[in-house]
Amino acid sequence: MSFEIRPLPGVIGAEVLGFDIGRDGADEAARLRLREAWTDRVVLVFREMATDEAGFMRLAGLFGENVPQPVQRPEYRVEGFPLIRLLSNRHRDTLGDNKPLNVGGTWHTDHSHLPDPPRGTVLRAIRLPEAGGDTSFTNQRAAYEALDEAVRREVDPLVGHHVYNSRYAPRRMATMTPDEEREAPSARHPLVRPHPASGRKALYFNPIRIERFDGMDAAASQALMDRLVAHCEQDRFVYRHRWRPGDVLIWDNAQALHMVRHDYDPAQERIMHRTLVG
Ligand code: SIN
Repeated sequence: MSFEIRPLPGVIGAEVLGFDIGRDGADEAARLRLREAWTDRVVLVFREMATDEAGFMRLAGLFGENVPQPVQRPEYRVEGFPLIRLLSNRHRDTLGDNKPLNVGGTWHTDHSHLPDPPRGTVLRAIRLPEAGGDTSFTNQRAAYEALDEAVRREVDPLVGHHVYNSRYAPRRMATMTPDEEREAPSARHPLVRPHPASGRKALYFNPIRIERFDGMDAAASQALMDRLVAHCEQDRFVYRHRWRPGDVLIWDNAQALHMVRHDYDPAQERIMHRTLVG
């Protein structure tokens, strides 16, 4: 095989070098190797991908079934590719105050309010600011495995109640109208879940979507989440990705939180294509 998978330092992330979707995309052994590395390293960074929208969708399809974006407004669409969402710092929120939408600026995992959340999110850099706009990821499996016995006993039986837009979210989320939000599904997920591919346990919570844990009130639930975030965001569990032109990333929502830094010059564009796999 002519591409290389190179683990990044620490417990999270691997670079994929020299992958060519036209040449390697139909090779079953290559697909298995990528999927194994993804499960193990949580985030894969494809460097210098000379690809278009069709190639991007094909690459995503190597990791699972392509699934729809839960909110797909006309301004988020990419013509001819209904499963791609355009993320742009030129989009404005829906609250009528004309502020930038700034998707993803605090720790979260994608769409945990769904009964069956997408395992993978795939992101492709289209236009990048000159500096800043990095995306960070945690390894929720390593974070769980590093908990001491007493904390594991505390978190193991808990179940989180996830809604589209938690009233306790640490940032404003205005990507749904009140009508859309009323119709949005909600879901209950165990806080500690065996991974669908490896069976290894990982912490699964979402500060923007959890209202509370069953049997706990909102204040105790938020206090627990704050403790868990402080644990998971330690440098030893985090990979911070500095985007380069040609990068395509896939991360594993079942064992990662992620967050983008909106710390760049807002006069410059930051535009991404995002798709999801089940
Ligand atoms: C997201 O949270 O889905 C966006 C991440 C990014 O734009 O880097």
